[in-house]
Amino acid sequence: MRTDSAEPVRLKDYKAPDYLIDAVDLDVKLHATATRIVSRLSIRPNPHGRRDAALVLDGDGLNARRITLDGEAIDLDKALLSPDQLTLAAPPQRPFALEIETEIDPSANTRLMGLYRSGSAYCTQCEPEGFRRITYFLDRPDVLSVYTVRIEADRSEAPLLLSNGNLIEAGDLEGGKRHYAVWRDPFPKPSYLFALVGGDLGSVHDEFITKSGRKVALGIHVEHGKEPHAAYAMDALKRSMAWDETAFGREYDLDVFNIVAVSDFNMGAMENKGLNIFNDKYVLASPATATDADYAHIEAVIAHEYFHNWTGNRITCRDWFQLCLKEGLTVFRDHEFSSDMRSRAVHRIADVRALRAAQFPEDAGPLAHNVRPETYHEINNFYTATIYEKGAEVIRMLKVLIGEAAFARGMNLYFDRYDGTAATIEDFISCFAEAANRDLTAFSRWYHQSGTPLVEANGAYDAAARTFTLEFRQFSKPTPGQDHKEPFVIPIALGLVGRDGDLPLKVGAQNGASALEISRAVFELSAPSRKITFLDVPSRPVPSLLRGFSAPVRLDYPASEADLITLIAHDSDSFNRWQAAQTYASRLLLRSVANIRAGGEARHDQGFIDALGVVLNKSSDPAYTAQMITLPSEADIARDMGEDVDPDAIHAARDALRQAIGKSLAAGLLSAYARHAENGPYSPDAEAAGRRALRNAALDLYCAGEPVEGARLAARQFEAADTMTNEIAALGALAQRAGSLREGALDTFYRRHAAEALVIDKWFALQAMIPETDTLERIQKLMRHAAFSLQNPNRVRSLIGAFATGNQTRFNAPDGSGYDFVAGVVLDLDQKNPQVAARLLAAFKSWRSLEAKRRGLAEAALRRIAAEGALSADVKDIVERSLG
Ligand code: ARG
Ligand code: ZN
Repeated sequence: MRTDSAEPVRLKDYKAPDYLIDAVDLDVKLHATATRIVSRLSIRPNPHGRRDAALVLDGDGLNARRITLDGEAIDLDKALLSPDQLTLAAPPQRPFALEIETEIDPSANTRLMGLYRSGSAYCTQCEPEGFRRITYFLDRPDVLSVYTVRIEADRSEAPLLLSNGNLIEAGDLEGGKRHYAVWRDPFPKPSYLFALVGGDLGSVHDEFITKSGRKVALGIHVEHGKEPHAAYAMDALKRSMAWDETAFGREYDLDVFNIVAVSDFNMGAMENKGLNIFNDKYVLASPATATDADYAHIEAVIAHEYFHNWTGNRITCRDWFQLCLKEGLTVFRDHEFSSDMRSRAVHRIADVRALRAAQFPEDAGPLAHNVRPETYHEINNFYTATIYEKGAEVIRMLKVLIGEAAFARGMNLYFDRYDGTAATIEDFISCFAEAANRDLTAFSRWYHQSGTPLVEANGAYDAAARTFTLEFRQFSKPTPGQDHKEPFVIPIALGLVGRDGDLPLKVGAQNGASALEISRAVFELSAPSRKITFLDVPSRPVPSLLRGFSAPVRLDYPASEADLITLIAHDSDSFNRWQAAQTYASRLLLRSVANIRAGGEARHDQGFIDALGVVLNKSSDPAYTAQMITLPSEADIARDMGEDVDPDAIHAARDALRQAIGKSLAAGLLSAYARHAENGPYSPDAEAAGRRALRNAALDLYCAGEPVEGARLAARQFEAADTMTNEIAALGALAQRAGSLREGALDTFYRRHAAEALVIDKWFALQAMIPETDTLERIQKLMRHAAFSLQNPNRVRSLIGAFATGNQTRFNAPDGSGYDFVAGVVLDLDQKNPQVAARLLAAFKSWRSLEAKRRGLAEAALRRIAAEGALSADVKDIVERSLG
C-alpha cells in the first residue's frame, strides 16, 4: 500500500520532465499470479529539462528482476531500486535504451489499478497512476510515447489479446497451446492511456466508415452469452462517431476501435486509446434487464469515452491539475450529444438535477475544490462532480457568453493548435479569448475559485415610467483555503413574462450598450452588484431569470406564489417552467419542515397542487411532464436548508406533500397512467421512455395518496412487466409500504433475476433506500447474501453507496448507527480497495450542515476513522479534509 507523504503535490511546482520517452516496447507474458513484463524504453534528455538530472522512474509495489542500459546490465543496488522508484543518478546525456523486467501478480490486485483480473479476464486501468504498478516509468501525462505491445498467453485462457492501436502481428506458439499478438499505437500517448486485455470473451463486430471514407472495425467484447446485450452500446458507438464528425468536425483516427466490458471496475469507463475498457454496467442492456435510465447512461458513457479520443487523447493534460481540461470538456460534449439524441429540454433538467445533487453539496462542504485544483494529496480523489460536472458547466457558460460562432472557432483553434500535445486550461481558454477577441481573465475565475455563488435578484416596476428594473448581487462564501473571492462573471439568460408570454426586451442607453446582449438576452453579472432597466414595459412583468440554468449558481428572487404559477403556466423557457414548480415545492417543503420541527403539521397548498394538476392533464410531452410532477428530493431540500438540517423532518414534510398530491390528483394520475400504457413494441428511444417515465411517476404519486388501491395497481404492473423500467418502478412503488406484499415482490424479483448481477444491484439498492428503522439490519443481512461481495465495486455502490447517499433518514439515523456502519465498511474496504473506500467515505461531505446532535455523531465517526493507524492515502486524504 502506498503511504501518504505529508507534502501535497502543487501546481506551482510543475516542471517539465528532464527526460522524454519516445518509444515504449512492452513484452507481456500473461500469467494469473506471475505476469512477466519486459519494458524497453527509448529515452533521451528533454531539451527543455535540466541537464545532468537524475532519472527517477515511478513504481508502485514493483520489483525489478533485471535492468539493462544500452544492453549492459545495471547493478540493481546502484539503480537505487525500491518498490516505488527506480533512480539512475547519472544517466547518459544522449538517447539511450533502458530495459526493465518486472513480475506482478494480477490476481492479488484488489485495488483494480494497474493489471488485474476481472473474472477470468486480464485487464488494466492506468489512469491516473496505474501504469507504475505494471512497470517503472515516467508515469505523468506530459510524457508521450509510441507504444508497441506484444502480449503472450495460453490460448485456452486468453484467446482474445488486445492493446491500443492497430494489430500488426499475431501467431501461435508451442503448437497452438500458446499464442501472441503485437499491437502498435502510432499516436504518442501518456502512460495513463495504455491498456491491455486478455481473456475468453464473446465479441460483436461492426464497422464505421468515417467521413473521409476510412473503414474502422468496431468490436465490443463481453462475457460469453451476453453478446445480444451489447447491441445498444454498438449502436450508441456508431451514433457517437457520426455525431463527433458533424458537431465538432472530429474524425476517428485508427483502423480499429475496441470496447471491453468487465464486471470489476472502480469507475464508469476508461478512454484508453483505441481500447476503451468499461464497467459492464455501461455496456450491457436488454429491455428485460436495463431501465430506460440505464440505456441513457450507456449512450452517454459510450459517447463520453469515444469523445475523449480527441479531448483527452489527441490533446491530453499537461499534469493532473488540468484534469477538467479533458473531463469537463468531454462531459460538455457528451451532454450536447445526449441533448441532440433526446429531448434537449428534458436533458437539461436531468443534468441540472444531477449537478445540484452531487456537485453543489461538494462545493458547499469541506471537500470543496477548484475546477482546476492547485494542490492534491491523492489525485484519485479528484475525479469529482466538480471536475466533471462543474467543469462542463463552465464551458457551457463560456459558450453562452461568447456565442455559438465564436465558441466553434475557439474549439477549432484548440484542436488545430494543441493536437499531439499535453495542454493546460490556460491554453484552452486562450483559444476562446482569441476567437471571441475578448479578455477572459475574469471569466477564468470559475477555474480558480471554488464554491457556488449565490445570486440575489430584485425587481421593481415603475408603472408611471413603464420601466422594470432588475438588480443583481452576487455573494460567495469562504471555502477551504479561500476566504475572499473576486466576483464571478455570471451569464444570466433572462426574459420578462407578461400576460401573453415573453415581452420584447428594450434596454435604455443608461445601461450601456453592453449591459445586455439583446439578441441573446444574456445579462452579464461581472461585478458584486449590477442593475438593468427595461423600457416600454406595459405592465408589471414576471422575470424569468437564469433561463436554461445559464450559470451554476443558486438564485434567490422573491417571486410571489402567483408569479411562480404564471411561470409554470406561461414561461417560454421550459427549464424555468420546471424550475418554478421546483421553487414552489421547495418553499412549501421548507415551511413544512419548520412547522414539523416546532411540533406542528406539514403545510398544504392547494394552489400548487392544482397547478401540477393542470400540467398533468396537458402533458403533450410526457418525459417533460414526468419531470414537472417529480418533487425535489430529500437531499435537494436539505441543500436548500443549508444548515441545521433535520432529515426526519424533511422526510415527513415531503411524504405529507406526496400524499396530499396523490390524494388530490388521484383521478388525474390514474388517467395519465392509463393514457401512457405501452403502445407498441419496446423501444429504448426518448419518446417511448418518456411515456414510461410519466406513467411510473404517476404511479408513484398515486401510491402515496391512495396506498391500498395504489399497491394493487403496482402489484398488477409488477406481475405483467416485461421491461425492467416498468418492473423496477412497480417494485419501488410496492416498497413504499412495509408488509408481505413488499417482501413477496422482493423475493419474486430476486428469483426472476438471480443470474444477472447488474439487476441484483438494483435489488440491493432499492432495499438499501427503504426509509425505515430496520433497513440497517436488512443491509447487514444482505451483506452476507451470496450475491454480495465487498470485492466488487458495483455491489458496494449498490448496497452501501445507495444507503449512504440515497437514504437520508437512515444514513443520518438520530442514534448515529448509519454513520458507524458506513465508517466500519470504509475501514474494511480500505484494506482491499482504497479508491472505492474513499469514495464511499465522501458521503459524509455534508456533515457540517446537520443539526447539532447528528453533526456530533457524524464527526465522532469521522474521528474514529482518522484515528486508525494504517489508512490508505485515499481515505486519509478524504477524512482529513472532511474534518479540516
Ligand atoms: N477518464 C475516465 C473517464 O472517462 C475516468 C477514469 C478514472 N479512473 C480512476 N481510477 N480514477 O472519466
Ligand atoms: Zn472522462
